[in-house]
Amino acid sequence: MRYHLRLMTTHDYSVLLTELADEHRRRSPRSAEIHERACRHLVDGGSHGIRLVDPFPPRITEARGGWMTDEDGHRILDLWQGHMANVLGHNPEIVTSTLSRAFADGFGTQSGMADALQAELAELVCRLTGAERMRFTTSGSLSTMYAVLMARSFTGRDIVMKAGGGWHGAQPMLLKGVAYQDDGVGFDGVDSKGLPSALTDRIVVTNYNDSQRLADDFVEVGDDLACLILEPMLGAGGTIAATTEYLRLARELCTKHGALLILDEMITGFRFQPGGLGALHGVTPDLAIYGKALGGGMPVAAVAGRAEVMAEAGRETGPRVAFSGGTYSAHPSSMLASKVFLEHLEAHSAEIYPRLGEIGAAMRRGIESAFAEAGIFARCTGALDELECGSSMVTVHFPRDESVVLDTPEAVFDPERCDIELREKVLGLALLVEDVHLLLAHGAATTAHTDEDVAFLTDACRKAAERIAQHR
Ligand SMILES: Cc1ncc(COP(=O)(O)O)c(C=O)c1O
Repeated sequence: MRYHLRLMTTHDYSVLLTELADEHRRRSPRSAEIHERACRHLVDGGSHGIRLVDPFPPRITEARGGWMTDEDGHRILDLWQGHMANVLGHNPEIVTSTLSRAFADGFGTQSGMADALQAELAELVCRLTGAERMRFTTSGSLSTMYAVLMARSFTGRDIVMKAGGGWHGAQPMLLKGVAYQDDGVGFDGVDSKGLPSALTDRIVVTNYNDSQRLADDFVEVGDDLACLILEPMLGAGGTIAATTEYLRLARELCTKHGALLILDEMITGFRFQPGGLGALHGVTPDLAIYGKALGGGMPVAAVAGRAEVMAEAGRETGPRVAFSGGTYSAHPSSMLASKVFLEHLEAHSAEIYPRLGEIGAAMRRGIESAFAEAGIFARCTGALDELECGSSMVTVHFPRDESVVLDTPEAVFDPERCDIELREKVLGLALLVEDVHLLLAHGAATTAHTDEDVAFLTDACRKAAERIAQHR
């Protein structure tokens, strides 16, 4: 045990991390070998940074429901679930059987043409979300980029406001205030090299769930603001639910100052109901971003909202915003998967959403109790206490003591308030050697997870917690 300058108790996990890495290597020689090979041609051995867990990720051969199998034959309980795209678990039958039939019938790879399917899906998404017009893209990053461009064009203003801890994809106009930086910077830093200050200077970072700070920031820049973009529940920022008061204030201030409210529903869309989370708070955005669950496991995202704002991308008004290109946009397989998936969510919403809430709550309880048994204080965020709907979301935190309130990203990323190394480095590996995949302590339940899976997760957490306790 060593002591921080501020007399905060911290723990040295280096011996444990080495022990866990050695065990992972021993258990998974095939994945280790493939990783070494992958690193010869792929930067860091892959194409998505956070998937590449240290020292190497399990290489997956099969994924069904709540579980995956890797190259070494381990069956792994998965809570990451395709970056939380999966609501019904991996490879749901409703999607795979539809796609198999379509491919057999000569429909599925990109045609680069218009089809009836897109029109049917757009009609469905607009009905479920309350949007008037929309467009499909291939990713959340592209969607938030187009949304910001349309907001700037529509308002004739330049400044964009986002919340610290908010992640809206790797696109230049919102790469500020994503990662928390110690040494007093907090969420005020720029998150990528290569960005011109002409862009990042136009991004104002406000504090999530801090109504006073939001009101003050609007006094300062509200009349020059093109848009405020918010996640109704922060995902990467700690799985923190926005309060209804905060979201409604955001709506009110945007309207008052002539700025647009963009809700980034990439994680939250279709996860709490067949539609957006904003609606459950009684908040209607000018634009919303959907993806992940929207595609039922296939790559599709969307920008949807008020017709007059979406018209910024259309022919009638110019076109003023280059919402164009996208060789693979509105890909036939993605459109088809999305359509059958959303139809299924809507038809079975009375069973799906209560079950997601129930299993999510059981996972959060199981994790907390397993750590408590080993004398380690753990708290899971993800619940939507304020609303009358359950939540499948789970992020595990290790607050320094019971007085820490986990209602802002500042609280969960401040090393004085939470043990970040335990959450982000140790936990994932300690669970992986117990055949549980929980990336960055962050995941979600699906309807494919069973009560037995929750027991398996709880038991794995118990074993991980006992091991961690020995090193504190
Ligand atoms: C809230 C949010 N917005 C945007 C994105 C970016 O989406 P994509 O990874 O599809 O570009 C993500 C992805 O994790 C997200 O969680």
